[in-house]
Amino acid sequence: MTRASATTRSAQWFARAQQSLVEGVNSPSRGAAVYSPGPIFLERGQGSHVWDADGNEYLDFMMSFGALIHGHAHPRLVEVVSQAMSEGSHFAAATSAEVEAAERFRRMVPSAEVVRFANTGSEATMLALRLARAHTGRRKFLKFEGHYHGWYDPYLLNAHGHPPEQLGPPENPARIPDSEGIPSSTFDDVVLVPWNDVPALERVMRQHGHELAAVITEPIMANMGCILPREGYLQKLRELTREHGVLLILDEVVTGFRYAPGGCQEYYGIQPDLSTFGKALGAGFPVGAVAGPRSILDRMRWGDHMVLHYGTFNGHRLTMKVIAANLDLLSADGIYRKLHAIGDAAIAGLRDVFRRRKVKAIVQGFGPMFQIYFTERDAIHDYRDYCTYVDTRKYSRFVHALLEYGIYMTPSNGLHWIISTAHTEADVQTLVKAADQACAELT
Ligand SMILES: Cc1ncc(COP(=O)(O)O)c(C=O)c1O
Repeated sequence: MTRASATTRSAQWFARAQQSLVEGVNSPSRGAAVYSPGPIFLERGQGSHVWDADGNEYLDFMMSFGALIHGHAHPRLVEVVSQAMSEGSHFAAATSAEVEAAERFRRMVPSAEVVRFANTGSEATMLALRLARAHTGRRKFLKFEGHYHGWYDPYLLNAHGHPPEQLGPPENPARIPDSEGIPSSTFDDVVLVPWNDVPALERVMRQHGHELAAVITEPIMANMGCILPREGYLQKLRELTREHGVLLILDEVVTGFRYAPGGCQEYYGIQPDLSTFGKALGAGFPVGAVAGPRSILDRMRWGDHMVLHYGTFNGHRLTMKVIAANLDLLSADGIYRKLHAIGDAAIAGLRDVFRRRKVKAIVQGFGPMFQIYFTERDAIHDYRDYCTYVDTRKYSRFVHALLEYGIYMTPSNGLHWIISTAHTEADVQTLVKAADQACAELT
């Protein structure tokens, strides 16, 4: 399968986009820094497929960075949105839609005594930190190297990869801001530690535990590809945070509603104090959510010492309708079994291709989310492994070749492959065949 058509129209749109948008896009992860010579302009999606401005068809494994848990234009969601839109999109007033969304959310997420909806994952993690600081009366918090929690100032420390010689020693990591425009004092409150390393965590908790409001972690590191927690690591993290009176914020923006109905907290059996959601929760609509016990979230109740959280679009009515329908779809029998089975088949198929083609690459992750690393290592365990041992340029070449064979994926190795409920076994076969052809080009 070779894509016959060119991408002339995409190139024309991209040239035009430069006139009115910075780098021709609305996020650096979509532009020429990632796609060469420029991005493919997508115009339409259906199920697991997308079509670009030139009419080329692709099988989509990026799925809107994981937001599209049911693929594109799921008929039930189209119906719900059309109906809701005809009644009025949003009132910024109390609605039955947000109650119905919240009730379903609580049924699925074990730690959610109550939930607060916002509009993006970044807003959710921002709110979670404010709540944690108010609840504990402490200012500092701990984040891990290579974890991304959105673009809020204090989280933008070592969220990007860097050459290994810039990282400093693991016991005293170099602190590298990801953005200009953030006062350096913002990071005075951030304790930075390598992930998946129990002795490092114990050491830093002994030193800083008493002054930390929160530890925030992704349960599976999803912004350096797909890095799994070592056996018992999350449990140890829970134990140590409890011991020091530190709140554990589990950032499930990527993993929530993906690995299990209750996300990774259900899958790994962890009880966080607060957890944050986005992406798959909105099934393509912008949303963020913070969930946890009343004793913490009730701090947002109106009053003298309240934690403020406003937002014109909080609990957006269209989104709330979509969430209720999305969570109903995800509650159907066998849905998660199917997501895992299709994902595991894709992983097995890709591993087989690399083995047969004698390409030094591993496929890491399981079920609905995974990543390919071109590396000599057997596994990538943390940020430092990723920065040191992963050939991200080769991955980019591989994905650009896959695009030629009709597989849509971002060439950024820091992201991950997503399986939606729209993907089928036939899609897996198409992927495996395309990967085989792309490998032939690589070698
Ligand atoms: C783990 C994690 N947290 C938070 C965010 C921020 O979410 P959003 O892009 O919706 O602001 C992301 C986005 O990729 C993420 O991966």
